[in-house]
This record gives sequence, C-alpha cells and structure tokens, in this order.
Amino acid sequence: MSLWDARFKKAADQRLNDFNSSISVDHRMYAQDIKGSIAHAHMLGKQGIISMEDAQAIEEGLLSIKKDIEDGTLLIDPMAEDIHMFMESELTKRIHDAGKRLHTARSRNDQVALDTRLYTSDAIDEVIENIKDLIQVIVDKASEHTETIMPGYTHLQRAQPITFAHHIMAYAEMFLRDIERLKEAKKRVEVLPLGSGALATTTYPINRDMVCEELGFQSVSMNSLDGVSDRDFCIETASDLSMVMMHLSRFSEEIILWCSWEYKFMELDDAFATGSSIMPQKKNPDVAELIRGKTGRVYGNLTTLLTMMKGIPLAYNKDMQEDKEALFDAIDTVNLCLTTFTPMLETSRILKDNMRNAASKGFINATDCADYLTKKGMPFRDAYRCIGALVSYCQDHNQTLETLSLEEYKQVNELFEEDIFEAISLDTCVNMRVVKGGPAPQTVKAHIEQVKTKLGEM
Ligand code: ARG
Repeated sequence: MSLWDARFKKAADQRLNDFNSSISVDHRMYAQDIKGSIAHAHMLGKQGIISMEDAQAIEEGLLSIKKDIEDGTLLIDPMAEDIHMFMESELTKRIHDAGKRLHTARSRNDQVALDTRLYTSDAIDEVIENIKDLIQVIVDKASEHTETIMPGYTHLQRAQPITFAHHIMAYAEMFLRDIERLKEAKKRVEVLPLGSGALATTTYPINRDMVCEELGFQSVSMNSLDGVSDRDFCIETASDLSMVMMHLSRFSEEIILWCSWEYKFMELDDAFATGSSIMPQKKNPDVAELIRGKTGRVYGNLTTLLTMMKGIPLAYNKDMQEDKEALFDAIDTVNLCLTTFTPMLETSRILKDNMRNAASKGFINATDCADYLTKKGMPFRDAYRCIGALVSYCQDHNQTLETLSLEEYKQVNELFEEDIFEAISLDTCVNMRVVKGGPAPQTVKAHIEQVKTKLGEM
C-alpha cells in the first residue's frame, strides 16, 4: 500500500517502484535521518505543535529503531521508496498515531536536504582524519630523510639536487591545504534547510534556530526555495575530494616511477605490492596505479553532480535524488584510497644510494657552477652561457663537472679556483639552500616541526 493510494486510482507498477526507489543508496543515512527527526520532534513539542508526550514517544521510537538496525534485528526494507519513508512507516508501526505526527511542518524535500548535509558533515570529518594520518606518515618519513639527496626534476629532466624529505614535504603542504578546504566547506555544508518545507516553509510556528542549535549547525538557510534545492554543498565537497585525489594521484605516479628499474628509488613492502600471473620477477605497484585510476572516478562524480544540477528549475526536482550516489562514491573512494596509500607509503623502503647516484649525474649542479662565477662578480647571464659551454664540452669529452680538471675550468674562465669542486658538490648545493622553503636539512627540519604543530592544532 502506498502513502498516496487515496489520491491514485491504480497501484504503482513494479517497474516504477524499482526505478523511483533510492533506498539502496540512501539507507546509509539512517542515523542522520533519525538525528534530524529527533531534533524536529523536540522542536514540535517545545513549540506546542505536537504534545510533549508525542515528541517523547517519537524520540524513544526512533532510538529503538536505531538500536535495532545497529544490532541487526531490524533490516531496512529494500522495497521502501527511500530511507525517509521507511523510517516513518517503521515508527508508525511502533508508536502508531504519534509516528504519524512526526512529519508535521516538514517535507521530504527539506528532510533529505538535511540528512545529506548531516551525512556530508560527518564524512568530511572522517576524510580529514584520514588525510591527517597520511600527513603524519609523510612527516615521519621526511624526518628520516632530511639528508637523503635525490635529483629534483623539471620536465622530468634532472634539474637541481634536493632531498627526499624536501620532495615529500611538498605533498604535506598540498594535503594540509586539502584539509583547510574541507574545513572551509563545512561552513556551507552545516546550513539548516529544515523548515523550508516542500518549498515555501509552513504556517506552523516552528523554531528553526532551535533545531539548528540542537544539530550543531552553523547557520539557518535564508530562503526556503534555496534550502530545498541547493546541492552546491555536494558539488563543493566533491570538488574538494577531487583535489585530494589529484594530489594522491600525482604522489602515486611518482611512486610508480620510483619503483621502476629505471629509477629504483623506492621499494614497496611485499604486503603492499602484487606479482604477475606469468612473469615471475614482477613486483607491481598496483595500489598506486589503482589510486591514479580511481581519481577519474571521483572527477566523474563531480561532473555528474555539476551536470545533474545545471538545468533544474527551482525548487526540488527528482533529478536531485541522483546526488547521493555520486557524493557517497566520491567519499568512499577517497577514504579507501587514503587508508591504503598511507600504510603503503609508511612501509616503503627508500633506496638512498640510488637516489644519490642519480643526483650525481645529469649536470644537476650546473646552476651552482654558474652561481660560483656570479658570486665572483660575473653577471649571471654571462655565467650561465659560460657553464652552458662547459656542459657541452663535458658531453663531447665524456666528462662531468666533477671530473674536469682545474686547468680545463680555467681554460673556460680564469675566475675558477680550486674551491669550485667544493662549491659544486651535491652536499654544498643542498646545504646552501637555506632560504625559507628550501631543501637544506635544517630548513626542512624546521618545516617538519611547523607541520607537526599545525597537525596538532587541526
Ligand atoms: N528520495 C528522495 C531524494 O533523495 C527524497 C525526496 C523526495 N521528495 C519528493 N518530493 N519526491 O531526493
């Protein structure tokens, strides 16, 4: 029997029911639905819209449903249209007329908007915790490798020497910004739509501020049409989550490169790598690859939400029921990726010698060689040309800047002295870059401390 059978002359076609139902997706919001309904009932009772006894019965009934769902004695009916309809009918079974009074001064439109906001707010907290765990692992790894020299790249060409700590602390900064963005988004997620009704509020003397306070939301929506039909909070969250995935994907891509024989900068723990069904020698970075792949999925969810919303006239339209599938998938995917990536990184082994070896090739100290001349008075642009010629000479003679003799240096320019070799050593190149944000061990150590403090305060 349907809720609207008094209005309709025919029962719904089974195909309509299957198509229209969202319970397979929104059953996850049962706890939020209960929390929102209890706050609504409290307010209805306080305002004298329903009796205090009914409000009390509703609260107790909803809490008993929650308990029964959680201990497995109550199964959410997959034939229900959605979680909201299921809750109301289960509540009415338990407390009869009082249950039928819960929906006074409320519509499913403001109810679903509220539940989705409550769910998103909780989900953001969980994602933030998972990002914090990752940053902690990055910081711990970085602390062990402030002196581990590796090549820094631009265009994937060896550019200037840095350290492994400096390299991965770049990701710590990206993930810190992701947390800030998600926290910022909460301001716009925690806006109370309840009281908007179907679209034009209600004539009952409800108290929206009271509900807002009980739910711990930051503000009350100021337009009822907007309250029921805004989904930009979902889009903003999916966008922030896409950014997290973009960062995870870049990091994954680097790990994939580092694990290749071409680099061999990193070795994954056996517990976080996979083998091949045919090639006995293989050890594959499947986790990192899957994260890179799943990034597309989260971007897809963002595109789904943007496209779903772009042509919807005010206020609620059923199109919007599609929001949760995309949003939940984005949340699940990000949490799954974070909680797998973090232990993979934590258990990985850094092959320091290979990093240093790679850094000692590719004329990675050429800038420092030019700076040497510049510090002796030569204009930088002239020094740059001079070292360019020197690199070309080295390549023709199968030499590096370290293997040239002082005589060869002097042939290019008289300013070169014996101290050139010290000036272009990898350690000097790194240690001298003490500028804020630079790779010198003491600078990165200070940065690590700063990030630890920030993490503690978040
Ligand atoms: N399951 C619906 C959703 O997720 C609930 C709102 C239904 N409202 C309505 N007027 N049909 O959007």
